[in-house]
Amino acid sequence: TWTTEAFVEEAVREVRARIGDKRVLLALSGGVDSSTLAFLMHRAIGDQLTCMFIDQGFMRKYEPERLLKLFDQEFHIPVHYVNARERFLEQISGVTDPEEKRKRIGHEFIRVFEEESKSLGPFDYLAQGTLYPDVIESADTNIDPKTGERVAVKIKSHHNVGGLPKDLRFKLVEPLRKLFKDEVRNVGRSIGLPEEIVNRHPFPGPGLAIRILGEVSAEKLNILRDADLIVRQEINRHNVYSEFWQAFAVLLPIRSVGVMGDQRTYAYPIVLRFVTSEDGMTADWARVPYDLLELISNRIVNEVRGVNRVVYDVTSKPPGTIEWE
Ligand code: XMP
Repeated sequence: TWTTEAFVEEAVREVRARIGDKRVLLALSGGVDSSTLAFLMHRAIGDQLTCMFIDQGFMRKYEPERLLKLFDQEFHIPVHYVNARERFLEQISGVTDPEEKRKRIGHEFIRVFEEESKSLGPFDYLAQGTLYPDVIESADTNIDPKTGERVAVKIKSHHNVGGLPKDLRFKLVEPLRKLFKDEVRNVGRSIGLPEEIVNRHPFPGPGLAIRILGEVSAEKLNILRDADLIVRQEINRHNVYSEFWQAFAVLLPIRSVGVMGDQRTYAYPIVLRFVTSEDGMTADWARVPYDLLELISNRIVNEVRGVNRVVYDVTSKPPGTIEWE
């Protein structure tokens, strides 16, 4: 019978046999796949593993800090933290087109990854949290004709743009490749990953940069981060986090008139986007209780400077997409 303990033991054995005394690089994203992978690889090969976390500056409030703390204090796995916030923001400054934004973020990710892996390396292998469904798609890899090994030509970073340069085409080690998402979650749980990582809603690679419509600025990022945190706090407090496929805030780059005390305001609206879905391909807008909407709306308007209006998105997918960009 399949147990998570047996899986971990077997995977550790396999990784040790395959890697020997070689060095492995792992790009941590904070999701359940890469976190579980890091734990497993570290157990197998200890300090032959280098975990790298690239902070683009587009994550949710407190998430980079939490991730680093978890790895440092709970797992005792060293993480090489790359603060790339400024350079990512610079790359997309003035850019309003959604596809152009994604492309630039993806390319910058590859550039930072390349620089950092060269300065920390050399590495023989790249550890990736490839799951069974990704193996079948096999889009990001080549097979080395001599050895039959899978070789990374892209890194699995949810960006889907930009290949790795030729001299950085790592051999892959993919200990999760036989697992489905639910099984990874069980493994993650059994090794002590907190529920907030195990059950985390999907989060796009370009992060909050595609939830700020049009031009992204440090000011708008701060506003959206604060509004988004309130959304998460309230749905957690009401124990409804896992009822949604995703539940998040979007910032629109327009302003509307409002009134606060006896002052006229002219500020941004926040859109609440809560959906239910099986796989993200189609989705339904969630029938959230009015009381919860009211609470979230009141808190955002009262606590987040720069926002004076909250609206709820009642569009399903199709024809709407889940994200707004
Ligand atoms: P849409 O907006 O196309 O999103 O309905 C479907 C699902 O995919 C996620 N998404 C992304 N995930 N990189 C990702 O890793 C991306 O660029 C990206 N864009 C959308 C979205 O959050 C939803 O779960």
